[in-house]
Amino acid sequence: MKVFVTGGAGYIGSHTLVQLLAAGHEVCVFDNFANSSPVALDRVRQLTNRDMGLVQADIRDADALCDAVTTFAPDAVVHFAGLKAVGESSDLPLLYYQTNVSGTMNLLAAMDAAGCTRIVFSSSATVYGEAHYLPFDEDHPIAPTNPYGRTKAMAEGIIGDWAKATSDASAVLLRYFNPVGAHESGRIGEDPQGIPNNLMPYVAQVAVGRRASLQIFGDDYDTRDGTGERDYIHVVDLAAAHLAAIECAASTSGCEAVNVGTGQGVTVRELVAAYERASGRPIATNVVARRSGDVASSYAATTKAARLLNWRAAFNIDDMCATSWRWQSTNVDGYGAGETQ
Ligand code: NAD
Ligand code: WQD
Repeated sequence: MKVFVTGGAGYIGSHTLVQLLAAGHEVCVFDNFANSSPVALDRVRQLTNRDMGLVQADIRDADALCDAVTTFAPDAVVHFAGLKAVGESSDLPLLYYQTNVSGTMNLLAAMDAAGCTRIVFSSSATVYGEAHYLPFDEDHPIAPTNPYGRTKAMAEGIIGDWAKATSDASAVLLRYFNPVGAHESGRIGEDPQGIPNNLMPYVAQVAVGRRASLQIFGDDYDTRDGTGERDYIHVVDLAAAHLAAIECAASTSGCEAVNVGTGQGVTVRELVAAYERASGRPIATNVVARRSGDVASSYAATTKAARLLNWRAAFNIDDMCATSWRWQSTNVDGYGAGETQ
């Protein structure tokens, strides 16, 4: 199959490319490297011994995107490209709406021009907002609490309307919970710029000595140990969910939202303990006030993914920490100092 991958150089995109290429798919990546490095694509080529097409351009540039999609003429599109920092989305809301919402509309128009009717979209559990009940199932009300989440909810709605209006269209909206971990080789992984916003990359940088101590944002939540509980999902499992979703899109029509998680909650303290076991290093922590906007617990109902995609997570929190550590300890500065060979 010919698969057009926006944002393919990023964290989740690069792991998905490995599996797409290993499965024999022909791939074209469209990325402006706003939050990624071409070194990631070199590493994917080395890991798979396969090449891919690359168009370096911005999804906000409708003409460049349309040219790339019509030239490649894909059977399916996987749409990762976007901005994802919750805090930044409150400071720069228009940039987020232009990139995540207008960028998605540009992509759908390009797909129309190329006659491509299948899309897998990177959505987020953040679209649910405050939990009315747990686990979150796909029918939970959609009520995001920040601009980033609203861009994802809007893009979901636009893709749903496009699918209704386009004959034979098939869209799978994958709502990721908390992606972490790295490829088992340790050659590709998450490389956040600046201070990491998310827990596991921060813990990894403490373990490797780049940061002194993890601040735990509150230990007075109503959870097993008082710290926030999340559904961490191994990025390699998440990549496999994309291949399953492409298969699903090939054999169905309409638009379906599907959670991608393990169904298991892990607290901050449990994750820190797992990382200490994986790295053999102590992780210094200090408890500070709750982070504004955080919820106590979030985890997925996983039955729809099993039924529709025939996909289930295979890896546990120890696997996630072990692979994150392999990546972090062998690439202390991420791709920054990475050689291209
Ligand atoms: P990432 O930042 O590593 O990857 C995004 C990629 O898109 C990068 O390669 C970046 O350069 C590219 N990009 C950004 N703006 C672009 C533009 N205007 N034009 C072309 N390319 C552009 O992020 P990721 O963690 O791999 O996330 C991928 C997708 O999954 C995003 O849409 C994100 O919102 C979504 N998501 C991520 C998480 C998470 O915690 N990582 C959770 C839920 C959903
Ligand atoms: C996890 C837990 C924190 C950092 C975010 C986005 C969401 C999605 C995934 C894209 C919480 C605690 C964290 C730290 C801490 N991204 N924590 N110290 O908030 O569940 O989700 O990433 O779609 O949209 O909101 O993930 O990794 O930031 O936090 O104690 O330095 O770790 O309070 O309990 P979150 P996270």
